[in-house]
Amino acid sequence: MPAEKRLDWRKNAFAISHKISDDLHYPHTAAYASLPFFANTQPFPMPNLKCPCCDHPLQLTGNSWHCDNGHRFDRAKRGYTNLLLAQHRRSRAPGDDKAMVQARTAFLELGRYQPLADALLAGLGDDDQPWLDIGCGEGWYTCQFAQRLGSDNGVGVDISKFAVDAAAKRDRALTWLVASGARLPLFNDSQQRIFVLFTRLFTDDIARVLKPGGELIVVGTGEQHLLPLREALYEEVRQSGFDAGKFLDARFTQIDSQDIHLEWTPDNELELQNLLAMTPHHWRAKPEAKAGIGKLAGKAMNAHFVIQRWRRI
Ligand SMILES: C[S@@+](CC[C@H](N)C(=O)[O-])C[C@H]1O[C@@H](n2cnc3c(N)ncnc32)[C@H](O)[C@@H]1O
Ligand SMILES: [Zn+2]
Repeated sequence: MPAEKRLDWRKNAFAISHKISDDLHYPHTAAYASLPFFANTQPFPMPNLKCPCCDHPLQLTGNSWHCDNGHRFDRAKRGYTNLLLAQHRRSRAPGDDKAMVQARTAFLELGRYQPLADALLAGLGDDDQPWLDIGCGEGWYTCQFAQRLGSDNGVGVDISKFAVDAAAKRDRALTWLVASGARLPLFNDSQQRIFVLFTRLFTDDIARVLKPGGELIVVGTGEQHLLPLREALYEEVRQSGFDAGKFLDARFTQIDSQDIHLEWTPDNELELQNLLAMTPHHWRAKPEAKAGIGKLAGKAMNAHFVIQRWRRI
């Protein structure tokens, strides 16, 4: 029996997103346009957050965001704000858990994926426009984008409070939010650039908050990704390439697509286990197969990424 099964995109659209949450639809999008407040041409003060309870603008006073309807959201000491309402989450702690966040941090800080970050940075201008990273995790890529695009203009959103808590340590000037990518606490047409790296594409809310002409930068894994690891884990390795076009619609037009291939030699088993914990194979592979991946230390490992840029029409 094949050990690796073809994935349902809802479970693992981009191959290494796991424990994906829930909120599929943003039901009130159309209503905004009719309110003068949210009209497309309205210039918003920075940071342009909206209240998750009533959609009115949020103002920051001291360490607390509040709207004119009296809803308040305290900014944690670490500098992030939780705008995820209890009724909009399916579990007490949605998104990546602490162990997953720690494993990813340990792996990313080795710098193995720096060439991917470099390729993303090479495609950026240095304009001074609002930008957003959805599913930002612990902010390893986000902070590199901030160095180019400005921290003051940037918002990092993740549904995992463990991830956002870790991210907020990296850059105090960026606006870090616990929120769902399906219900972004941002106004219509407010963002010039949106990044979605290895997490699910919430097409409707991305289309809502991205300005016409704005850019969506999506990264997923290509069919060769982590081949030695997958060969060690499964009897039969299925190939499945990434294409954001499967999830986007006529509101977006593709600018370009770039494949990034990397090779490196993992130092030890810990590095491999941390790498595994970043992938859906962590949940899918058999325990005995996962226990045996230490044998890949000192041997060639590869990564295959696909960067796609799309323009909001
Ligand atoms: C595979 S990680 C990628 C993290 C980061 N983009 C990176 O590449 O290092 C996927 C992230 O998406 C987050 N996530 C899952 N569902 C989400 C949702 N509905 N809204 C926002 N973030 C979500 C998870 O908590 C996790 O941090
Ligand atoms: Zn409110």
